[in-house]
Amino acid sequence: MRTPLRLAVLVSGRGTNLQAIIDGCKSGEIRGTVSVVVSNRPNVLALRRAEDAGIPHYVIQSRDYGKWPDCRNEYERAIIDILKDFDIDLVVLAGYDRLIGDVFLNAYPQRIINIHPSLLPSFPGLHAQKDALEYGVKVAGATVFFVNPVMDGGPIIAQEAVPVEEKDTVETLSARILQVEHCILKRAIRLIADGRVSIQGRRVIIT
Ligand code: GRF
Repeated sequence: MRTPLRLAVLVSGRGTNLQAIIDGCKSGEIRGTVSVVVSNRPNVLALRRAEDAGIPHYVIQSRDYGKWPDCRNEYERAIIDILKDFDIDLVVLAGYDRLIGDVFLNAYPQRIINIHPSLLPSFPGLHAQKDALEYGVKVAGATVFFVNPVMDGGPIIAQEAVPVEEKDTVETLSARILQVEHCILKRAIRLIADGRVSIQGRRVIIT
C-alpha cells in the first residue's frame, strides 16, 4: 500500500470511530488521510464530524436507487464512483449499517475492513452487545476484520477483550467496548498503512 494511505470511511450514525481515525491521521499515529466520508443516512453526527474536519462527505441513500435489495448493485456502484474519484486505497466501515455486496467486494478486494462490537465469531449481527450480555459471557470485546461475503465473517485483523461486569447494562458494556473499538481500529489501519498485514486463507499475518 502506498502512504499516506487514502482512506474512505463509510458511516451511518454518530461517528466516534470516524473521529478516532481522523484524530489518528492528524496526530501521525496512522500514516494515512481520510479522503472522503460516505453516509447512507442524512443528518447524522458523523457527517458533522467530517464537515468540521474539512473532509469531503456525501450521503448516498439506497432508496434513491430503488427497492432494497434489488437496488444493491446500483447503490453500491454510486458509492464506488465517488471512491474512485478520490483514488481510495482502503475502505473502512465505521458503524456502517448496510451489508456489503459483490459489486463492492469486487471493486475493493481485500481492501474493505469493518469494526464489530464483539469478539467474533461470537455475536455477529446488529445487536452484539445485547446478545453478549443476555448470553452471560464474562468477557466481551471488539474485532476488526477484512470484509468478505459472510456477514461479520471475514479474516480477523485485531481483537481486544473487555470484562463484563455484574452491573452492566447494554449501555455501560457498549461504552466500554467502544473505547477498545477506537484503539483496535486505529491500530489495524496503522498496520495496513505500514504494509505489515497480509492475508493467508482465513488468517491475517502481521509482521
Ligand atoms: C460501533 O459500536 C460499531 O462497532 C458498530 O456501530 C457502532 C458505531 O459507532 N458497528 P460510531 O458511529 O463509530 O460512534
